[in-house]
Amino acid sequence: MEAAASLVNWPSEGITRVPFQVFSDDEVYEREQQRIFRGPVWQYLCIEPEIANPGDIVTAWMGETPIIVTRDAEGQIHAMVNRCAHKGALVALRGKDNAKHLTCVYHAWSYRLDGRLRSIAFQKGVNGKGGMPEDFDVSAHRLQPVRVASFCGLVFGTLSDETPPLEEYLGPRMSAFIQRNFGRPLKILGRHSQIIHNNWKLYAENVRDSYHATLLHTFYTTFKVNRLDMDGGIVLSDKKWHHISYSKRATFNLDREYLTAEVHSAKYGAKHGDSALEGPQLLDAWDEFDDGITHSIQTVFPNLVFQFTLNSLAIRFFAPKGVDKTELKWIFLGYERDTPEQTEMRVRQSNLTGAAGLVALEDGCINEFVQRGTVGAPERAAFIEMGGRVAESNESSRATEASVRGFWHGYREIMGF
Ligand code: FES
Ligand SMILES: [Fe+2]
Repeated sequence: MEAAASLVNWPSEGITRVPFQVFSDDEVYEREQQRIFRGPVWQYLCIEPEIANPGDIVTAWMGETPIIVTRDAEGQIHAMVNRCAHKGALVALRGKDNAKHLTCVYHAWSYRLDGRLRSIAFQKGVNGKGGMPEDFDVSAHRLQPVRVASFCGLVFGTLSDETPPLEEYLGPRMSAFIQRNFGRPLKILGRHSQIIHNNWKLYAENVRDSYHATLLHTFYTTFKVNRLDMDGGIVLSDKKWHHISYSKRATFNLDREYLTAEVHSAKYGAKHGDSALEGPQLLDAWDEFDDGITHSIQTVFPNLVFQFTLNSLAIRFFAPKGVDKTELKWIFLGYERDTPEQTEMRVRQSNLTGAAGLVALEDGCINEFVQRGTVGAPERAAFIEMGGRVAESNESSRATEASVRGFWHGYREIMGF
């Protein structure tokens, strides 16, 4: 813990400051791999429809650790490190597969779908010569197991024995909202993936940042999809690691702050009434829930996001690929029970987000702007005081960075900074 504290000199103001060093320091990145990604957190692996059948196999990542998720012949889900017990090669090479066994291409060590070694090539040698020592025991070797848990069709893994049970890790309020959005059979509608050239934590901040959504994303503001002059709020989990941000489109009540040049400049966006959609059906939506919520972002520490905008439901997962490189994956979802018309509306609305989305396009570059702006100044720090200096839920306003502070609260706790 002492070594951790001396690695980063966190400003005395605490969670309202974030030293830029944490976005570009290789030692910090290594410590994150150890303390967070190999530590006591649950990380998203896949959704159950991806491994619906016996023998289904998908690959995933927990930080930089490659993972295999399988469904065995009995229907049981397993996860294991994708690293051969012989010399460490990747065993599963495809993102998605179906097989009876997992066999390493290098020297053909073969594993059961639960990760146990079943056979190795030339164990007894060839022509009676060579081979493993007499005392070689197949049952003494296996792919490193990963604890796995599933909730509402979402499959999570952890590499630590200390991680609390999944629903305890999420907490009651977060679990209830996941139940709202994912608590019925899911149907995959499409996917994207993109590389973003920034530290993974800038994306973790960005998705918790309800302050920027109405300013950076002029599409949201112009077409009244998600604005701060709609009723909404921020909910932090008990430990402040996870959050929900939500808004209710029907409560839109124009706030004069939006009419100022700074908020709605002619240079960066359209003035009220100036813009119209050529295809207004893009924003056709139906009420799916009786809580009035029409836009929500939910995060699960460290690198998972659920987004439900109008009727467009998506999972976003962002995997660190180096100190200044992150892979962002999107899965767009509907429900098995959807009508063809509902599916079409969800697919149409998915144009708002994803790699080239009318809204999410901006997040793909803004985090890189921060990376580029901060890389040369590890001794300086971000200033995060919108909405106060604490990390608490606020169900009356989203003009706050409370959930960003919540992320840093959790990060400091787990990293020992
Ligand atoms: S590394 Fe896998 S069998 Fe040799
Ligand atoms: Fe954004």
